[in-house]
Amino acid sequence: MNILILGSGGREHALAWAIKQNPKCDRLIVAPGNAGIAMLAECAEFDIESGSAVVTFCEENAIDFVVIGPEAPLAAGVADATRAAGLLTFGPSAEAAKLEASKTFTKEICDACGAPTAAWARFTESAPAKDYVRAKGAPIVIKADGLAAGKGVIVAMDEATALDALDDMFGGSFGSAGAEVVIEEFMAGEEASFFILSDGQNALPIGTAQDHKRAYDGDEGPNTGGMGAYSPAPVLTDALQAQVMDQIVRPTIAEMARRGTPYQGVLYAGLMIENGKARLVEYNARFGDPECQVLMMRLGAQALDMLLACAEGRLDQMQVNWADDHAITVVMAAKGYPGAYQKGTEIKGLEALPEDSFNMVFHAGTKANGPAILSNGGRVLNVTARGASLLEARQNAYALLDRIDWPDGFNRSDIGWRALD
Ligand code: AMP
Ligand code: GLY
Repeated sequence: MNILILGSGGREHALAWAIKQNPKCDRLIVAPGNAGIAMLAECAEFDIESGSAVVTFCEENAIDFVVIGPEAPLAAGVADATRAAGLLTFGPSAEAAKLEASKTFTKEICDACGAPTAAWARFTESAPAKDYVRAKGAPIVIKADGLAAGKGVIVAMDEATALDALDDMFGGSFGSAGAEVVIEEFMAGEEASFFILSDGQNALPIGTAQDHKRAYDGDEGPNTGGMGAYSPAPVLTDALQAQVMDQIVRPTIAEMARRGTPYQGVLYAGLMIENGKARLVEYNARFGDPECQVLMMRLGAQALDMLLACAEGRLDQMQVNWADDHAITVVMAAKGYPGAYQKGTEIKGLEALPEDSFNMVFHAGTKANGPAILSNGGRVLNVTARGASLLEARQNAYALLDRIDWPDGFNRSDIGWRALD
């Protein structure tokens, strides 16, 4: 079949890499893709946030299956447009993607289905929001309602920080995303991510992961999109996964179906675990980046069969065949990220590295210049490896990374520490 993947990051490189290995895949196109993706798929350039542009491209290229990677096209209704055109699609409708795009929506769903999450309140004006913060005290969490590229959440350890965050949000720092604000109880504990495919009715767990959001070793420095990840997440035991499926995931999927807006795609549940119990921090309507890279490394070619079963509504017939192994990915970012950084610096040594089912360097932000590979973003490479243990996977990943010659990049040297120490 002919398959189109939308997106340009390490997540989409990993999806393309897994899908390409499945004999069902004849032609693979990624839009817009990047230099690494271009080594295994065709890349195409058009507006991936426009439903009509995506449908036109699919019709002109006889596409049989569309896989939507990032949240922006989902929130823009691209899956609605492709499904309306009769195209088999992986990714939720705009209404269902509100589980990521609107914090208040997710909180209402949790309340409606009894899913455990932090206590919350919603505000559209500054004065009552500030009164609420003063009444509750710190620590407390302030969130812009809408999509804010991962920057709309302030975990305030003191009251002054919380009040400043409210000034910022109501002052327009987050544009329309901050017109409505959610104030939440602070949850202590350990965070982990759980990935579940839903076809609208059935739910199939496809793996756990943990990422590292801070830029520097020891979980210091500014927040980023993620500096590395590993799978599985030991903190999400079988018993906890069962609790999350029973109390959070299945009730959410049932509530979405009951509202006539079934959730079809991957549901990424961000969880906080404390005293053996999990509560929902947030949902995302897509695979995590870089969590997808470690999941795809472990799933391989069967990932396509699962995405297809998800899009075709037959997840009840699917089973995941897990190797009893571990995967880890280390992000190489441009110096300065997540602040200002340079683009276009040359990365050497990539062509000599192994590319197999145990070692893979996924490209997150690169472009080709003749034979040279140049950086083209903040997060640039995802150096990914598998191993029989997490320690072995980590040694393999850092051994790969040591062979990459990129003086303008940096990486954390302690990915996986929480699970290994
Ligand atoms: P979100 O975008 O909702 O996932 O929030 C980003 C990050 O903020 C999460 O990954 C957590 O580390 C933190 N966070 C969000 N909500 C809470 C909460 N209620 N309590 C503690 N930390 C939180
Ligand atoms: N790595 C976190 C995310 O994809 O949202």
